[in-house]
Amino acid sequence: MKQQLVDQFLEIYGEGDQVNVYFAPGRVNLIGEHTDYNGGHVFPCALTVGTYAAARRRSDDQIWLYSLNYPEGGMVKTSLGDLAYRQRDGWGNYPKGVIQTFVSKNCRISCGLEILYYGDIPKGLGIGSSASIEVVTGLILRELMGLTDISMVDIALFSQLAENEYMGMGSGIMDPFTIAMGKKDHAIFLDTSDLSYMYAPLALSHEKIIITNSGKARVSVDERYHERRVQCRQALEELQRVIAIRDLGELTAEVFEQVQEMIGSPVRLQRARHAVTENQRTIQAVAALKRGDIFEFGQLMNASHLSLKEDYEVSCEELDILVEEAWDIDGVVGSRMMGAGFGGCTVSIVENSAVNEFIRKVGQNYKERTGLDAEFYVVETGNGAAVL
Ligand code: GLA
Repeated sequence: MKQQLVDQFLEIYGEGDQVNVYFAPGRVNLIGEHTDYNGGHVFPCALTVGTYAAARRRSDDQIWLYSLNYPEGGMVKTSLGDLAYRQRDGWGNYPKGVIQTFVSKNCRISCGLEILYYGDIPKGLGIGSSASIEVVTGLILRELMGLTDISMVDIALFSQLAENEYMGMGSGIMDPFTIAMGKKDHAIFLDTSDLSYMYAPLALSHEKIIITNSGKARVSVDERYHERRVQCRQALEELQRVIAIRDLGELTAEVFEQVQEMIGSPVRLQRARHAVTENQRTIQAVAALKRGDIFEFGQLMNASHLSLKEDYEVSCEELDILVEEAWDIDGVVGSRMMGAGFGGCTVSIVENSAVNEFIRKVGQNYKERTGLDAEFYVVETGNGAAVL
């Protein structure tokens, strides 16, 4: 991949200084959904698929960006003095947003850049492709501009900022953090309230992680995601009248029960209950994994799905069908919808011996019930962003 990308880079940009190649993965979240903007825990891992980028410095202040995935967009050309968001720059706004964020954080970007991107993350799965473009761009800036005091966590934070302030999407820290900090055969137990984290071994020898794409396009995700954030914040403010907490993630299920009557609407109560119980499930799931109790881990994944469906209402019929069909198969440890929701994917942990049957049966029954073709990806955990 490395040499191929360098060759293509030279074809597109011409000969010149040395070209370096970088990689940032996609991510899968095992449990802890919609907790990362509620000061709760998440438990994701980095994948082996992601975004590759070849890059070199320019001698002027021009920024030239090209993606092999969006050749129809052509070359996105801008300069350090002209980094504002522009609709017609399409995907190119993601890297531009990261560069702009570095500049706003007083990082010295001393010259222009040429970057060639290529992603092997299947499109529209909701497994972190935009965050992987952002993080790989942040890594390029750090390496090519000699920003030695910028850590991988800073790159994750700057990527989130670019997403929030430049792209105008409310996403949390989970995706960029996992992509920047992932470790092969491990998942990251991240406390999003203070970014403390621990790597938990995940060398599954008897099971596989399967991502199933529902093929259902994710409709108005941004809007509905934002609505959930607002509902959680309002519920938090109501609770803060009786209890000194900064985030919903600070509450145990027991304490939540004692104070929940402060929440003035049934919908906000549901949203807050999900945020609290999902955080507790995530803590329990990591403890179960440490004990080697994969069965309990799977049960908690299943409970996560029900809570996302019933309390948080971010699932949809297609995701529910995929999960129900998965639960019916012997050898499925756990299965749930993953990511923001409203379409997209499920994540399942499946015993090796049941993988073929899982793909066959879930695929067939899903097709019968929805008319849609599901896609299955047996994924491997990988390392976080790196220079190749
Ligand atoms: C999206 C966001 C994440 C997280 C998940 C839900 O993937 O980008 O920050 O909030 O939704 O867990």
